[in-house]
Amino acid sequence: MSATKASVVEEAGVSSMPAKKSFGARVAAHFKKWWWAHLIAFIIALLVIILPVVYVGYPKIAQDAVNDSTLDIKQMVISDPTPETFHLNQTQILGSKSSYHPQIYEFDAEVSLGGAEAPFAMVTVPSVKSNDGAEIHVDQHVDLSDSDAFGDFATAVMMNKEVSLNIYGRPGLKEGSLPKTTVTYNKTVSMKGLNQLEGFAVSEFHIMIPSVNGYNMNGTVLIPNPSVMTITMVFLLFPTNVFKILTNQGNLSLSLAVDGKSMGTTYLNDLVLKPGDNNVPMLAKVDQAAVIGLLTSSDNPYKDGIVPFDISGKSSSYNGKELPYFTKALSANKLTVKLDVGAALKEIGLNLIKSALGA
Ligand SMILES: *[C@@H]1O[C@H](CO)[C@@H](O)[C@H](O)[C@H]1NC(C)=O
Ligand SMILES: *[C@@H]1O[C@H](CO)[C@@H](O)[C@H](O)[C@H]1NC(C)=O
Ligand SMILES: *[C@@H]1O[C@H](CO)[C@@H](O)[C@H](O)[C@H]1NC(C)=O
Ligand SMILES: *[C@@H]1O[C@H](CO)[C@@H](O)[C@H](O)[C@H]1NC(C)=O
Ligand SMILES: *[C@@H]1O[C@H](CO)[C@@H](O)[C@H](O)[C@H]1NC(C)=O
Repeated sequence: MSATKASVVEEAGVSSMPAKKSFGARVAAHFKKWWWAHLIAFIIALLVIILPVVYVGYPKIAQDAVNDSTLDIKQMVISDPTPETFHLNQTQILGSKSSYHPQIYEFDAEVSLGGAEAPFAMVTVPSVKSNDGAEIHVDQHVDLSDSDAFGDFATAVMMNKEVSLNIYGRPGLKEGSLPKTTVTYNKTVSMKGLNQLEGFAVSEFHIMIPSVNGYNMNGTVLIPNPSVMTITMVFLLFPTNVFKILTNQGNLSLSLAVDGKSMGTTYLNDLVLKPGDNNVPMLAKVDQAAVIGLLTSSDNPYKDGIVPFDISGKSSSYNGKELPYFTKALSANKLTVKLDVGAALKEIGLNLIKSALGA
């Protein structure tokens, strides 16, 4: 249409000046001739803008979203331990403030103690849509790639109030119709530890005469597991975790010593430590002669019959196999319990304290 108009203008001014097209006409003519070049230029410009957005900006935005997300371990159950494997049942909660909610594909993650050099295991993290509060369930058999490293982790859990766990992997990520990209997932999460079994106590114990299967002492041991589940999952300012461990139905033996002298072994059979207070039946093989000898000796330092026993982990085993990593964790922790041996002896009719004092 403008072409027609242009030709009218041309005719009008034909006598005076040489043909001078209007600006609009020239532009129109130019586009008519060179439209394809402009289309190509436009497409190139579009690609120049879009491609970096898709292939540079989008992966960066995706990485930023992943970096900004949080992870909270709500539950972690380690069961069926063998020296090289265990079963892991873990529930993690993803936190995301991002307006993107991409799909994160299943990936293999290296799991290690925070700050450690070597991971102790590889865990398959299932695919998840990264919505705030999304639950990730890991329920699998885990091969320990480095059982020493797992020993260090178990020790850290035993000894500390807080312990950190690093999860590292390179998952694929997809947002809407944008292409799949790969991001680095590198999160260190903090969990409550066993804090040296603070609060560990022998709630009651009895001397068994006659002994049963070689055990001459029984009782109940209280083992607090301080990790507490917090239901307020919305504001995770100070994340708390539930950490169920350590030896699922394992047999734990603890050595007893007084003043560095061995006095026997305590057995906590079929122990499963759950979050909260655990009341665990205890059996012991105590060198009664040594204990009685100590209490009746003239230089008995325990006049009231209350004897401090140093307890240190001797071994942890499951299905007859020793678990070096838990043994390592147990050995790292030394506990002292004061047992009223005088009262226990009195219970069986041996009033040692009185006779010792009377002598
Ligand atoms: C995101 O985390 C990765 C891996 O830890 C790191 O290399 C990268 O610098 C971080 N990116 C941003 C944008 O913070
Ligand atoms: C793992 O934990 C979940 C949730 O606590 C439970 O439903 C499931 O039965 C557990 N799986 C195994 C194998 O113990
Ligand atoms: C993960 O991030 C931490 C610091 O945030 C860094 O020290 C570590 O090297 C990273 N891990 C890997 C495998 O890049
Ligand atoms: C300890 O053994 C005595 C005698 O064998 C028994 O009566 C008692 O119930 C046992 N106590 C515990 C806590 O196992
Ligand atoms: C624990 O010890 C008891 C008694 O010695 C034994 O019967 C049981 O099989 C052991 N359990 C495991 C899991 O090793």
